[in-house]
Amino acid sequence: MKRRKFIQNTILSGLGLSVATALTACADETKMTTITDETKAVSTGKPVIPMVIATWNVPNATKKAWEVLQAGKSALDAVEQGVMVEEADVNNQSVGKGGLPDRDGNVTLDACIMNKEGNYGAVVCIENIKHPISVARKVMEDTPHVLLAGNGAKQFAIESGFTPENLLTEASKKAWEEWKVKSEYKPVINVENHDTIGMLAIDKNGDISGACTTSGLSYKMQGRVGDSAIIGSGLFIDNEIGGATATGMGEEVLKTVGSFLIVELMRQGKSPQEACEEAVQRVVKKSPNYKDFQVGYIAVNKQGETGAYCIHEWFNYTTYQNDENKNHKADYYDKKK
Ligand code: GLY
Repeated sequence: MKRRKFIQNTILSGLGLSVATALTACADETKMTTITDETKAVSTGKPVIPMVIATWNVPNATKKAWEVLQAGKSALDAVEQGVMVEEADVNNQSVGKGGLPDRDGNVTLDACIMNKEGNYGAVVCIENIKHPISVARKVMEDTPHVLLAGNGAKQFAIESGFTPENLLTEASKKAWEEWKVKSEYKPVINVENHDTIGMLAIDKNGDISGACTTSGLSYKMQGRVGDSAIIGSGLFIDNEIGGATATGMGEEVLKTVGSFLIVELMRQGKSPQEACEEAVQRVVKKSPNYKDFQVGYIAVNKQGETGAYCIHEWFNYTTYQNDENKNHKADYYDKKK
């Protein structure tokens, strides 16, 4: 199979085969309201900071981040500790421990973090470390670099005190072994696919930070890296303007540098909702096969107004704002005419 075709098919497979179970696993622990109508920009007129917004239905993660903010800590602490909840959740098969492996059975993780000063740290293709987001933070804070890859990232993590462990759970191993029987790539657009966890937070000082973490596409080629840990694609923060983060088909987000684009559009005066819509339209315009994959964005501006948009129905996101932990269904591009 030609490389390009393989990648395309792998992507489709990854989106189709990722986890639905994580949604229920998370939802029963924390009570939350689900908004079923597609949600446009949130502008309540009430105080909107501090606040947290995250991709997908992750009430435990947003609750953790909210608690960190309520304790007076920074947005950076909040997003790190928030996404760590999902990294540690073995039922979430697209992030951290329990993530679905590549086609050779290796669980490889990508993560990045960005702070109010515009500093950034990331790891890609790291193995055996449950919390890549915390390694990314250490790259940002303790090294002169911004991105470490593969064995180097793992070595740095171990030297920094992280304990290596097996991240391939029985459930993920079983799913991989079932996939291997045919190694077939079936394009199925996500309906309730969990995918990457991106989180943005504003603390009581009005400062913004973001984090993004993923095991990437399931059964991907060994060494494949998506958008999630790449600055400007999976995540971008500008403390004067706002932040954005992405989920879905990393290759398409990378090609359009989606999160940076959204922040720049907000700088030019667009609302977070308008900016997310334009970034999705950019993907659609450049990809004739957009019907075969999902991309979703969330964004927040300095005032705490939020936006979210995706190509296909059923991308959802969670906010913790005004003391309420809520799940929202995002508005989407590909509506039946
Ligand atoms: N958005 C996650 C990935 O493509 O790896």
